[in-house]
Amino acid sequence: MQSPTRLSVRQAAIFVSVAVGFFVAIVTIATFWWIYSLTLGPERAVAAAAAANPTRWSPSDGAKVITAAMTNTVPLGDNRQPWMGQVAWTTGVQAGQAWITTNPKTVNVQVLVGLTSAEVWTYMVQYVAGGLGVSCQYCHDINNFSADTFPQKVAARNMFYLVSDLNTQFIGRLPNWRGNFIQCATCHNNAPQNREAVSTQFVNSVPPIQVTVDPLDAKGVPITDPTKKPEAIRNQVALQDAVLYYMYNYQIWKPFDGTEGSGRGSLALTYTGGRTQDQVTINQNAMNNNAWSLGVGCNFCHNSRNFLAFELNADGPAANAVYGYNKLKTQVMMEMTTYIEQNWTTYGAIAKPSIPLVAAGGASKFSYRTLSGKIYNVPGCFTCHRGANVPLNAINQADIPAGAAGNVFLPPMIRGVK
Ligand code: HEC
Ligand code: HEC
Ligand code: HEC
Ligand code: HEC
Repeated sequence: MQSPTRLSVRQAAIFVSVAVGFFVAIVTIATFWWIYSLTLGPERAVAAAAAANPTRWSPSDGAKVITAAMTNTVPLGDNRQPWMGQVAWTTGVQAGQAWITTNPKTVNVQVLVGLTSAEVWTYMVQYVAGGLGVSCQYCHDINNFSADTFPQKVAARNMFYLVSDLNTQFIGRLPNWRGNFIQCATCHNNAPQNREAVSTQFVNSVPPIQVTVDPLDAKGVPITDPTKKPEAIRNQVALQDAVLYYMYNYQIWKPFDGTEGSGRGSLALTYTGGRTQDQVTINQNAMNNNAWSLGVGCNFCHNSRNFLAFELNADGPAANAVYGYNKLKTQVMMEMTTYIEQNWTTYGAIAKPSIPLVAAGGASKFSYRTLSGKIYNVPGCFTCHRGANVPLNAINQADIPAGAAGNVFLPPMIRGVK
């Protein structure tokens, strides 16, 4: 018979090893948890918070970019004052205040007609300077705000026309429009230059292959004879260029329900006679770009059992109201990107001597196009959307703070009708 003492020693040994095991396990878990929270944890928490509560752009975001920056060096031969940094901001805003005191009525305003100088000043401070992340000096000779001395001011005036035209011709006629307008910040996001037109996923994923593009003619019949195709796609082109070709040459040729401007368009695949494998590949990569630009899946726009169908379920439960009409809206958006590219030189952005390197602050090469022999940074879906179905930098008049003057918030001529 074993003595009770021996037994209890064995029990103690088991107890100790189990306890040590527990201890080691807990320390291991705690260590890994600690490493996790040091590395991935905060990043994920921030991402989760941002996804749950996306914050919309506000004028103070833009002002912060300016005031938090170091003062900049003005290029040689350019006789304006620095436009970045706290001093530049204060100097510009105060010069503007002095100007509007002596000039209560505007002097050389061609688009913002009908606003008082004080209203122009407020809009400039909040939405123009703020939207581009540059102080007044970037565009103005601050001794004379009416002078058109610098090309940036002329470009900015053309951009006023651009925004007005986009809101009037496209945004205002979106089916089931949710009330958001385009403003300077929608594209610029607090930076004057080099906006990215496509998503990073697109840049990284599109395979480096050559494809034959067979566009559809006005009746929706594929053009296969190279001599009848537009110059840009007469020969085979890189897949990425084929996708961009459709983003900037989109047309709708067949009403689907009698609604004007609705129906099958340039990217439709099925039709009497079928479509080539290359067209399927182009469609798929164009669809990826749509989905990634907006941060959504395919069935945000499609009924996954019927890719041809148009979903018009805006009257259903709240979830449907959100998803309804998105395929039709996307067609309006593709008509808009087409319009933007085809009229870009008249909107007067400043051409570039060469495609800027990404390392030097440029965007991907997909964001630049040669128009009338010159290189321009041209907007695409991603420029505005940047991974959100409703661009966070769009502006909604419903967000006007109580008591604020509506036309100062976003002047009516910039909003277009509606
Ligand atoms: C991105 C370029 C840009 C920036 C930055 C900018 N402005 Fe302007 N500003 C313009 C343009 C363009 C006009 C002319 C608008 C028109 O023709 O309708 C204008 C007009 C004005 C006018 C009216 C001048 C007149 O002829 O009566 C004032 C005042 C003014 N801006 C003040 C400011 C102030 C203050 C700032 C800085 C907080 C500022 N602007 C920043 C582009 C800019
Ligand atoms: C549809 C998108 C879009 C909207 C909206 C837009 N811009 Fe632009 N803007 C651009 C792009 C793209 C460029 C070219 C940038 C480049 O060349 O790197 C540009 C260029 C400019 C430039 C010339 C900058 C430079 O240094 O070359 C100015 C100034 C400017 N925009 C002002 C404005 C103002 C003011 C508004 C609001 C009234 C506005 N933009 C709205 C897309 C837009
Ligand atoms: C932001 C909206 C949007 C997203 C997201 C989207 N699509 Fe599309 N898709 C469209 C539009 C608009 C058309 C119609 C193009 C036309 O008629 O020219 C289309 C057309 C198609 C077609 C051809 C239908 C036909 O009429 O022949 C297919 C197939 C398709 N999409 C697949 C996809 C897949 C797969 C995904 C996910 C990777 C996707 N789409 C994501 C908007 C979208
Ligand atoms: C110049 C800025 C701009 C560009 C470029 C742009 N969009 Fe939009 N888009 C908007 C704005 C603003 C809205 C919100 C309109 C509203 O309130 O209904 C919007 C809304 C949408 C919606 C509806 C989302 C929803 O939840 O209601 C879809 C889908 C969409 N865009 C797709 C696209 C696609 C695809 C492209 C490229 C072909 C594109 N957009 C290019 C500004 C832009």
